[in-house]
Amino acid sequence: MPVVKVAAVGDIAPGTGMVVEAAGRTLALFNLNGTFYALDNKCTHVGGPLGEGDVAGNVVTCPWHGSKFDITTGAVVGPPARRPVAALRVSVKNNEVMVEMPGT
Ligand code: FES
Repeated sequence: MPVVKVAAVGDIAPGTGMVVEAAGRTLALFNLNGTFYALDNKCTHVGGPLGEGDVAGNVVTCPWHGSKFDITTGAVVGPPARRPVAALRVSVKNNEVMVEMPGT
């Protein structure tokens, strides 16, 4: 499975997220107290950008209609979304944040 660099560690402040492009896919990348997580950026409700959502603890709120997802798993923790978003495996090497890209 290809592993792709998506950001530098210093690009994302703790407790925030950002939208990144990697291998033709748009991802939401989050820094929770120095641990990084990646979700599909597209909210499973109608496609809102999760990387632009507010982060509280380990939960991101979709900026469009307020669905809440667990950043660590992609699970829905608040409606209106009903389906989880894909969570991708993240690693950090030499200050670079790398994501395993499935199906590329
Ligand atoms: S698009 Fe995310 S809650 Fe509607």
